[in-house]
Amino acid sequence: LRLVKALLQRKVMSISANTIISIVIGDPIEHSLSPLIHNQAYQALNIADQFAFFAVRVQKDDLGAVLAGIRCMGIRGISCTVPHKVAVIDYLDELDGLAAKIGAVNTIVNQDGKLCGYNTDIQGVLVPLEKLISISGKKIAVLGAGGAARAAVFGLIDQGADICIFNRTASRAETLAVEAGCQWNLLSELKELSDYDVIMNMTSVGMFPNNEESPLEGISFESGQIVLDAVYNPYETKLLKDARRQGARIIAGLEMFVEQAAAQFALYTGCQAPVDVMKNVIKKYFNR
Ligand SMILES: NC(=O)c1ccc[n+]([C@@H]2O[C@H](COP(=O)([O-])OP(=O)(O)OC[C@H]3O[C@@H](n4cnc5c(N)ncnc54)[C@H](OP(=O)(O)O)[C@@H]3O)[C@@H](O)[C@H]2O)c1
Repeated sequence: LRLVKALLQRKVMSISANTIISIVIGDPIEHSLSPLIHNQAYQALNIADQFAFFAVRVQKDDLGAVLAGIRCMGIRGISCTVPHKVAVIDYLDELDGLAAKIGAVNTIVNQDGKLCGYNTDIQGVLVPLEKLISISGKKIAVLGAGGAARAAVFGLIDQGADICIFNRTASRAETLAVEAGCQWNLLSELKELSDYDVIMNMTSVGMFPNNEESPLEGISFESGQIVLDAVYNPYETKLLKDARRQGARIIAGLEMFVEQAAAQFALYTGCQAPVDVMKNVIKKYFNR
């Protein structure tokens, strides 16, 4: 009885032969919040009988076979997470211009067997920031030079921001800075933030279980500055707590997560995502 109740609550029983399926692929995948956020959004829009979202663990060596299967089976949307964001590009038919520059794809849309790649991590950064400021001409310090930083740097430069990349490893920072045409320095050389309107942590420093770490330990923020942290577990990182205490405005990693998911949702369903519902789902998950 409990199982039937659970199935009814989750509207699993409304899935039919016509249900349009989207999935997230990654390895590991058990931690993914994508099924939760997308399925709850389908329910909120009363389209849970038309769309369903699942998570699938896909190992690196199986990626080609999996994408061939996806193409044939007509799975509509494929969200990609670690370690597939770069490797999937080899299997796509089309690549969005910014995703090509970034060199990573987190979103694939299957249009009648044609696989088109996008990177919605860009919207994850731009949408929350644009709610607070106009990006053009702003001086932005991007901490990190990995996948998330690449999306932020190319997306922000496209909007006219003036970027300096700070990374632990010089070679990675330099490579990205040369590709994007911006400045760079070592993260260890960053002692003073007053030059910057916005500071973005795109490293994994401060991520659970290292909740007491910050990439900017002991560095002061100013009121009016905006600090965004890509890390979304914990909900409010040490970096964000320090910044908030000193009067800066903060953007939590979950805002970024929700906005990148909202952009995927629109691509997969053709419907505008219920962003507030998605935010509440995630806040509830983290007991906020
Ligand atoms: N909120 C969202 O929607 C969203 C989306 C994407 C990613 N993220 C988060 O963003 C973070 C980065 O993800 P990613 O995909 O870019 O990872 P990645 O490609 O592995 O890059 C990791 C970055 O963190 C730096 N780093 C790692 N440990 C460090 C340490 N102890 N000190 C200083 N720098 C360190 C690395 O520097 P080196 O180059 O020196 O190794 C690199 O720049 C993760 O926490 C991820 O969960 C969030």
